[in-house]
Amino acid sequence: MSQIRSHIVGTGYSLPAKILTNDDLSKIVETSDEWISTRTGIRSRHVANDGEYTSDFCVKAAKMALANAGLTVEDIDFVIVATVTPDNTFPSTAAKVGKILGIRSGVAAMDVNAACSGFVYASQIADNMIRLGQIKNALVIGAETLSRIVDWTDRNTCVLFGDGAGAAIFQASEEQGKNTDRGILSIKIFADASHYETLCSDSGVSFNQKSGFVHMDGKEVFKMAIPSLVEGVESSLKLADLTLKDIDWYIPHQANARIIDSVAKKLEIDDSKVLVTVDHHGNTSAASIPLALAESIESGKIKKGDLVVMSSMGAGFTWGGMVVRI
Ligand code: UT7
Repeated sequence: MSQIRSHIVGTGYSLPAKILTNDDLSKIVETSDEWISTRTGIRSRHVANDGEYTSDFCVKAAKMALANAGLTVEDIDFVIVATVTPDNTFPSTAAKVGKILGIRSGVAAMDVNAACSGFVYASQIADNMIRLGQIKNALVIGAETLSRIVDWTDRNTCVLFGDGAGAAIFQASEEQGKNTDRGILSIKIFADASHYETLCSDSGVSFNQKSGFVHMDGKEVFKMAIPSLVEGVESSLKLADLTLKDIDWYIPHQANARIIDSVAKKLEIDDSKVLVTVDHHGNTSAASIPLALAESIESGKIKKGDLVVMSSMGAGFTWGGMVVRI
């Protein structure tokens, strides 16, 4: 039976021009390129300059995605931004993006805070609205300026994170309702609030009127990240009635190359199918998956018709997975 599916018809990304290498960091805190690259796989990350905001990267990524989709802002009828680093406490960064882009009045706009799983969560919302026939074209963005909530005197955390944005345009399309269709074939999202304090901002607007710094029990997050990322892949593939043999690419949340290696090993996915950007992006939280997706489409690695599975894990804890035929 025919079915409406969300096709990803255009992707885009934006990174700050400023690059911070591991050697640059070793001048700020007591660390070394050797420690950072062997423990995390990160070699450099992009960091926003003064006067550059999350919305700036969203807008650039959105313009690229619109151009790649052959659409204009007039076509967009939903804007959703996944972020933990909004420009303002309110209104949403999605509203700011709408203002800058000139999105027409009446188009719904909202942010979603699901930390590193933000893009998968935002995709679930946009995809549901498309499949219900409520909207035709959604602008789905993951974006962060994590450099603003990192304590630059804490070597345990400041070496891990980066800034940037990735965007995708989801478009309603009539498909056959089979797992050979193009478009989003499944999404699964999860959370377990018992880990609320394991990875969190140490402050908050309601709590103490501050935005605070990233606070993390790295070892505990590391331990939980592996089974969560595995579950994201397995559950979304199962929902789509597909297996790992069917996939062309795996995009994991980009937090640490050692986590990615362990997940790929557990799932028995060949390294050649695993897309890794953590080396030059660092951990960009909600931006990490859409950045990797947009970069890999731009470079020609991911092609039309390829089957891509993605999985995420982050603060909350939140985790999830999605399967898309591009
Ligand atoms: O997006 C989801 C959120 N985040 C993650 O998924 C991150 C998950 N966790 C991790 O990736 C890892 O736990 C880290 C990369 C954060 C840390 O790696 P680790 O192998 O667990 O190191 P550790 O925290 O056990 O630290 C080992 C040593 C410590 O020294 P002592 O106590 O053994 O003397 C740290 O003080 O390394 C020290 N250390 C550093 N040394 C140089 C911690 N950070 C640094 C640093 N440079 N930047």
